[in-house]
Formats: sequence, C-alpha cells, structure tokens
Amino acid sequence: MHTGPFSEAEITRLRAETSGSKDLIHFNNAGSSLPPDIVVETVISYLREEALCGGYETESRYAGELEHIYSQVGDLIHAGCDEVALVENASAAWGIAFQGIDLQAGDEVITSEYEYASNFIGLMQAKKTRGVTIKIIPQDEQGNFPLDKLEAAITPRTRLIAVTHIPSTAGGMLPISAIGEIARRHDILYLLDATQTTGQMPLDVQAVQCDLLAATGRKFLRAPRGTGFLYVRKQIQDRIRPLLMDGHSTAWVSDNDFRVREDARRFELYEKNRALILGLGKAIDYAQAIGMDRIWERIKGLAGLLRTKLEAIPGILVHDRGDDLCGIVTFSAAALPSASLKSRLAEKKINVSLGVPRGTPIYMYKHDLNSIVRASLHYYNTEDELDVFCHELSAILGA
Ligand SMILES: Cc1ncc(COP(=O)(O)O)c(C=O)c1O
Repeated sequence: MHTGPFSEAEITRLRAETSGSKDLIHFNNAGSSLPPDIVVETVISYLREEALCGGYETESRYAGELEHIYSQVGDLIHAGCDEVALVENASAAWGIAFQGIDLQAGDEVITSEYEYASNFIGLMQAKKTRGVTIKIIPQDEQGNFPLDKLEAAITPRTRLIAVTHIPSTAGGMLPISAIGEIARRHDILYLLDATQTTGQMPLDVQAVQCDLLAATGRKFLRAPRGTGFLYVRKQIQDRIRPLLMDGHSTAWVSDNDFRVREDARRFELYEKNRALILGLGKAIDYAQAIGMDRIWERIKGLAGLLRTKLEAIPGILVHDRGDDLCGIVTFSAAALPSASLKSRLAEKKINVSLGVPRGTPIYMYKHDLNSIVRASLHYYNTEDELDVFCHELSAILGA
C-alpha cells in the first residue's frame, strides 16, 4: 500500500490501467466513473466462463470469491460481513431500508435540503399513504448544515433521520458524524445515503453511527453499473421488515412457518449478477490498495483547484457553498445554457453532466438552479486535464 501524495509515476500507471482515460477527459465520476481495466476483465471473463461451463457450475467454482465480497464491502465501511446486503443500486438499497421501517401516522422523519430526489419521493409517499410528517432542515446562509436546527426539530415523535451525505448536484457535504451523534443521543434511527461518498473518501459506519446506509458501485468506487449495497447495523436488523423474501433470505421451518436469515442477507434475493459482483470486489480491492485517505486528499485537491480556475474565467459562476466541499464541482455560465456547454465540451471529448432539479430538487428549486454543469473529479484525473478543460471552456464562452 502506498502512503502520501500520488507521484506522477503512480498517476501514469493508474491511467494506463484505465483504458477510458486515454482519449477522454472524464469529469463525470459522480455519474459513473471509468472502471479500472481489471474490473472490466473480471466481469467479461466470468461471463465467458458462465457461457462455457454453466451459471451454477461457475458460481460454485467461485463460491469463495463471491462470499468474500461481503467482507470486502464490510471492510470498506468498517462493518461486519453479516451487516451487508448486495443489491443492484443505491435506490434499491435506500428503498429496502426505508420501506422496511414501520412508520405510523404522526411519526416524523427529518431530512435535509440535499436529499436525493428518489429518496424524497419515498418520504412523500410515506406522507401520503402512512400520514408521516416530513421535516426539512435547510442549509444556513453559508451553505452549512445547522446542527442546532436539527436538534431543535427533534420531538418524541421523531422516528428517523434520513439524509444524503453528498448531494447529487452540489459540492457541499453534510456533517454526518455530528448528525449521527445527535441521532444516537436521541435514540432515533439514522439512514444515510452515501451514494456519492463511497469510493470518494473514507467511510466508517462506526464513526458515523448510522444504522442504515445505501451505496452504489458505479460512481466513485469505479465498480460496474448495476452494483450496490445496503448496510444494516446488526442490532437493528430485526426492526427492519424485509420487503421481498425467497429461499435465500429465509429458512423453512414447517408448512406453517419460516425464519428470516440471521444476517443482512435477509434483505437481498438469491438471484444476482455474479459477474458484476466480482467486478465490485475487484473495484474495492483496487481502491483499498491505493488507500481511501489518499484518494480523498487528491480528489479534494483537484476539485479545489478546479473551482479556483473556474472562478478566474469571466462569466462563470461556481455554485458550491459551505465549509466542506467534495469532488463535485458545479457551475453555470451567464452566456450559454448548461446543456449547450455540456454538448460543446463533449465535442472536445470532455465529459461533464447536466445537473437539473430532478437530482436534488429542494436545494435546486430553492436557489433557482434550473440547470447547472457538474464536473466531478477522480484521483485519475490530472492537473493537465483541468487546464485543457478550462481552456476549452474559455474558448466556448469567448472569454
Ligand atoms: C446522492 C444520490 N443518491 C442516490 C442516487 C441513486 O443511485 P442509484 O442510481 O445507484 O440508485 C444518486 C444517483 O445519482 C445520487 O447522486
């Protein structure tokens, strides 16, 4: 394992191991990162083996590796392997967690203005169908999460704090450990959306004190699309009702009874894409070999540099606010709609994404952000790429 900052030689090697980085400036890591070649090769060779040997036969040959993925995910977030369920994406993980909580009419759920749209839809559905009350804690004037307002919003009816650590379309972050401390002190369930966190920075569920955590593989973790996981703290597993059950998640007792599994795998189904799951394991190994602390330091450094460079371009407005910013950089230009900027950059083989209220509706509508450009950076991006990016952007804007 390496320590300290990345050397140029290491970046060169990591890029050589990422075929996609050769001809492309990929600043859409919050959408889906370029995977390391080893991840892609693992998936393809497993699929080939399945085709040649049979799916079940291949699965039994790889039983050890497939079992090991639960420990790898656990190690990544400092959880036990019995606290991990493998699912297809973060939305599934979040939905399984949230819908499994027995919320009653009058129960209160607290969230923030950074909540991801799909999660918020889940909250609204619970409001409509179960009479649950939703309380939204807005960011303060400086763009920081006011912990005192959270504390003040808690009542004896507060059953759940459900927040997104890093929003889809803003560079800010919530103080998830301080929120966890409050949740624990008041004995309130704490559900964390760590979709944009996982793979971007170290994540420790013991330090954060969350009870449930939803994550996806394809974003900063650089795993294949269609992978994700749910963490459920051992002590609360019996309080979450499994939504779907099969012979994998339960054990047969008699004609009249069954028993759910003793671990978090009660929240997943038997059938999954084993090839993708092996790819997820490879991606976790790859990130861990580099070191999550180092990955985070580099991402933070590159994103800070990009914000400084963007602020120097006339007509560009950077939207990220708050004391703690991450690898997601959001901006817009007065002279050109964000959608046009994105497509003009794509002509130069530069990938960014378009941020629309569909991602983070409460925050975006509040700030009248109908569309912004999102440039999300990873450790395999380089300062040279930032320069090319800003050069092309200036040329497009005639700045
Ligand atoms: C903050 C956040 N949460 C949840 C999701 C949903 O993730 P998935 O598409 O893996 O379900 C996204 C996707 O962009 C996201 O940005």
